[in-house]
Amino acid sequence: MKSFVKINSKINRFNKKIIVPGDKSISIRWVMLSSLAIGISKSINLLESEDVKSTIRSMKKLGVKIHKKKNIYYVEGVGLNGLNVKKNEKINAGNSGTFARLFCGLISSYASEVTIFGDKSLSRRDFSRVIKPLQLFGVNFKSNNNKLPIKIVGTNFLRPIYYLEQKGSAQIKSAILFAALNTPGKTVIDCVKSRNHTELMLKNSLNLPIKIKNKKSIHRIEIDGQKEFSKFDYNIPGDISSAAFFIVLTILSRDSKLCIKNVNINKTRSGIIDIAKKMKGKIKVLNKKTYNGELKGDIYVESTKNLKSINCPKELNTRSIDEFLIIFLLCAKAKGISKFNGIEELRQKESDRLQTAAKFLKMIGVRTTENYGSIKIYGNPDLNLKGNYKVKNFLKDHRVFMMSCIAALTLGGNFQIYDRSSIRSSFPSFLNLLKKLGANII
Ligand code: S3P
Repeated sequence: MKSFVKINSKINRFNKKIIVPGDKSISIRWVMLSSLAIGISKSINLLESEDVKSTIRSMKKLGVKIHKKKNIYYVEGVGLNGLNVKKNEKINAGNSGTFARLFCGLISSYASEVTIFGDKSLSRRDFSRVIKPLQLFGVNFKSNNNKLPIKIVGTNFLRPIYYLEQKGSAQIKSAILFAALNTPGKTVIDCVKSRNHTELMLKNSLNLPIKIKNKKSIHRIEIDGQKEFSKFDYNIPGDISSAAFFIVLTILSRDSKLCIKNVNINKTRSGIIDIAKKMKGKIKVLNKKTYNGELKGDIYVESTKNLKSINCPKELNTRSIDEFLIIFLLCAKAKGISKFNGIEELRQKESDRLQTAAKFLKMIGVRTTENYGSIKIYGNPDLNLKGNYKVKNFLKDHRVFMMSCIAALTLGGNFQIYDRSSIRSSFPSFLNLLKKLGANII
């Protein structure tokens, strides 16, 4: 298979219903937690992407039996202390920051030495954020500058901690919760709000003694550890981070309509819907339902001609953290200057996404000014591309690849977009789904 795709024409009008694959954050958490449960858990619509496969492969390496039969995944949980950790175990997290960071917490209570490593992009990412709180539990880490590969020296004498998590990172919060699961006593975390799938799963699916107190900007989570839990089944809703590309595709296309069925619209994740609405994008959510504490619904979106720029409220930052690249594309076509502040966490993703955005937008003739934690995008409603564009060397960031495809399909020009295999991380069926809507991708 070629390493790039070519897109030389805009997508024609469409009016369709689609479903996007299962939520990545929930899929990874389900595999990890069901591995520690007692009994056999079942899941349908588990995301079959590389990040989830790395998670499955790693849990299997530690003795958990996982198999798939007729679209259902089965995980034979081993209990909190049942993992089989070999001497000098090596775990490959691939491209998955979520698995790698949560795993540091999960393995903390095992008196063993486990080395975790990953691909080039993951190896440049910061792990001090999870090392710091986990050291307070009594875990030791050996690494070069807090980057992968990291050797985790766990202990079965963990002590509970209090931690103030100020980055608004669900990965940090979840790494602490995973360690707390097998720590005697009460662990308390005060954290800036971020996606809350871990705590919802612990509370609603596992019935663990966990208290969640929502204050204005800070959540307090209290959890009593060392409580075994039983198997739990999960029907995983669609991933809003995947739906995001189709939302923007539709808004920026001509005379088109799309319904994206059964998407997770948890308030901690649905920032893109609020941002699109603030920009006057035609979007609404119907058929809302709650499942295991998670909200889901059908997203209806339509082409929109007169998009307005946005001065993005900070409250939306963590709620849209994975969607900013594609949101910036929306801003490129909006009237006025869009402003985003306090988004320096974007520099910590699969690539430095603030730099990436500025570089990409400059290439397509959109002015931006960027500094450490902010970006301004000078939108142009008449943006219509004619030239040749090559998208290459973005650390194989899957979301850069997908954003570039949406740019090509809505703005015109002749695009050659490299690293097509990157979509395996989160959304392997991305190109096929675009083709179903009529996109011409070579
Ligand atoms: C994730 C949390 C976010 C997000 C990542 C998935 C998770 O990272 O960017 O793609 O599943 O917990 P941070 O928690 O580091 O912001």
